[in-house]
Amino acid sequence: MKIESLPVIEGKHNLANYEETCKSFDWKDVEKEFSWHTTGLVNMAYEAVDRHAETFRKNKVALYYKDKNRNEKYTYKDMKELSNKAANVLKGYGDIEKGDRVFIFMPRSPELYFAVLGAIKLGAIVGPLFEAFMEGAVRDRLEDSGAKVIVTTPELLERVPKDLPELKYIFLVGDGIEEDDRTIDFKKKFENADKNLKIEWVDRQDGLILHYTSGSTGKPKGVLHVHNAMIQHYQTAKWVLDLQEEDIYWCTADPGWVTGTSYGIFGPWLLGGSNVIVGGRFSPETWYSVIEEFGITVWYSAPTAFRMLMGAGNEIVKKYDLSSLRHVLSVGEPLNPEVVKWGMKVFNKRIHDTYWMTETGAQLICNFPCMPIKPGSMGKAIPGVTAAIVDDRGEELPPYRMGNLAIQKGWPAMMHTIWNNREKYESYFMPGGWYLTGDSAYMDEDGYFWFQGRVDDVIMTSGERVGPFEVESKLVEHPAVAEAGVIGKPDPVRGEIIKAFVALRDGYEATDELKEEIRQFVKKGLAAHAAPREIDFRDKLPKTRSGKIMRRVLKAWELDLPTGDLSTMED
Ligand code: WTA
Repeated sequence: MKIESLPVIEGKHNLANYEETCKSFDWKDVEKEFSWHTTGLVNMAYEAVDRHAETFRKNKVALYYKDKNRNEKYTYKDMKELSNKAANVLKGYGDIEKGDRVFIFMPRSPELYFAVLGAIKLGAIVGPLFEAFMEGAVRDRLEDSGAKVIVTTPELLERVPKDLPELKYIFLVGDGIEEDDRTIDFKKKFENADKNLKIEWVDRQDGLILHYTSGSTGKPKGVLHVHNAMIQHYQTAKWVLDLQEEDIYWCTADPGWVTGTSYGIFGPWLLGGSNVIVGGRFSPETWYSVIEEFGITVWYSAPTAFRMLMGAGNEIVKKYDLSSLRHVLSVGEPLNPEVVKWGMKVFNKRIHDTYWMTETGAQLICNFPCMPIKPGSMGKAIPGVTAAIVDDRGEELPPYRMGNLAIQKGWPAMMHTIWNNREKYESYFMPGGWYLTGDSAYMDEDGYFWFQGRVDDVIMTSGERVGPFEVESKLVEHPAVAEAGVIGKPDPVRGEIIKAFVALRDGYEATDELKEEIRQFVKKGLAAHAAPREIDFRDKLPKTRSGKIMRRVLKAWELDLPTGDLSTMED
C-alpha cells in the first residue's frame, strides 16, 4: 500500500529538529523550567497559575469560557485568586487535607476549573467524573477511592450515593441551596472566601489526579497520577501542541477524560497559554463558530468529532472564517486517513495524530509540525521516550512485524499506581522494563508507528473507552437477562458501537420492547454512552470451560470472520 506523506509545515516551531533533539534530550533539563527547581516547593497548581500571575502574564487571559448562557474571561491573576477562594471553601467547610480525595462531578463551567485547581492547591487528589455518569458509576468510583468530598450540582445530586460512610461533604454549585450537616452551598461560601491562601507544598511523587478508566475485566480502575507528571505535560504542550505565547488554544475534551486534564488544564497553563473552554453539547455550528469567534490557533480534538464534522458536509465550513487555525491535533482512537485528507481539503491543515493512554498520563507517540505525516500512522515516539514492538516475551520485533506496542519505563508522566490495586499496576510491566499498552501495532523503517487494535476487548465508542465487562455486568442485573456478551462493532462515525448478545431467562419473550427496556436499564444504571446500540437475543452464548464469555467468537459471528481456535470453548 503506497501512502502519500504530507510535507512538513513551514514556520517557527518549538521542536525544530526531531532527530537532533532525540540525540541530546534529557528530561532532567526540563526541571529547570519550574520554580521548584530553585525553591524546592512543589505544587502543580502553583506552577500552572500562580507563577504566571507574578510575571508579565499577570493580565494575560488564562481562561476563556463559553456556553449557551455564559461568555467570560479570566486572567492569570483572576485564576490565582479564584482558585485560592475555592481552596479556602474546600478547606474551611470540607476539612480537606493533603492526600484526601475530592471528586468533581459537574458540567463544564469556570467553577469546575476553580475547584480543581483549588483542591490541588490543598494537596488533595482530584477525581473528575463525566456528568453523564449514573448513580452506579459514581458509587463505584467514590467507594473505591474513599472520597471525602464531592463537588456537584443540584441537577446531578440524585446520582450521588448518600450511604457512603467516607463521603463527608457534598458541595453544591447552584442557586437557592438548602444547607445541612453535609450539604454546603459552594457559591455562597465562595463569594465570601478569602482570596489569599497558603499553598500546601507537596512531594513530586504525591497524588494529583485519579482518573477511573475501563479495562476488559473487573470494575473500572483508578489510575493515579502525581505532580511529577508536570514535567511531561509542560514539554509535550511545548513540542506537540507547539504552543507559543500568542496562541489561542482549544482542547475539546471534557476533564472527565484524561485529555481534558493533561491537555485541557495542566499542559496549556503550565506554558502560560490562553485556554478556551466550551461547555454544552457538540454541534458543527457551535464548534466552527468557536474557532471563528475566539480566533483559535491550536485545536486539539478527537477522530469521532472530526468524523461528525466531516459528516456535516463541506458547505457549512464555508460559512465560517477558520483562517486563524495554525495547528490541529487528534487523540483517542485511530485517525482514519480519510479524515486527514478531509482536514487538508477543508482547513488546508494537517491533522496531527497523537497517541497515549490514561495510564501514560501524557503523549508518547506523535506527529510533530516539523516532520512529514504519513496518514494512518500515529507518528513517532517523542524525544525522551522509547517505544517498540515486542513479542509476548518482551523481545523487540523488526519493522513491519505486528506485536505488542510497548514503552520503556521511566517517562515522567507515567501513572504512579492503580488505586487499591498494586497487583493490577504491576501486571502492566514485563521483563526488560517494558510497559505494555495493550495495543497492537507495527513500526515502519522510518520509526512511524501504525495502530492495529486493542489486544484485549476494550471498546472505543465516540472516543469513550468502555469496558465490555462493565456493560455485561449491568445487563445481567436486568431480571430478564441470563447472560450477556458485549463487543465493539465497527462503525463509520463512532469508531465502534456497543453491541450486546443476550441470552434471556426462561419465561421471557424476545421482543423489541424488551430490547428497548434493557437498553434503557443500562443507560440509567451506567451511562448513556455505555448503553448498547444493538442487542441480539441468542439461546446460548459461547463460553470457555471456565465460564468466560468468548467475545472474540461473538465478534467473529458479527463480522463473518473465522472463529479461530475453539479448543477452550465449552461443549
Ligand atoms: C486508543 C486516551 C489509535 C488506544 C488519551 C489506547 C489510540 C487507548 C490513539 C487509550 C491513537 C489513543 N490512535 N488509538 N492516536 N490514542 N488510542 O485511556 O487503544 O481513553 O490504548 O486515553 O485509546 O484510551 P484512553
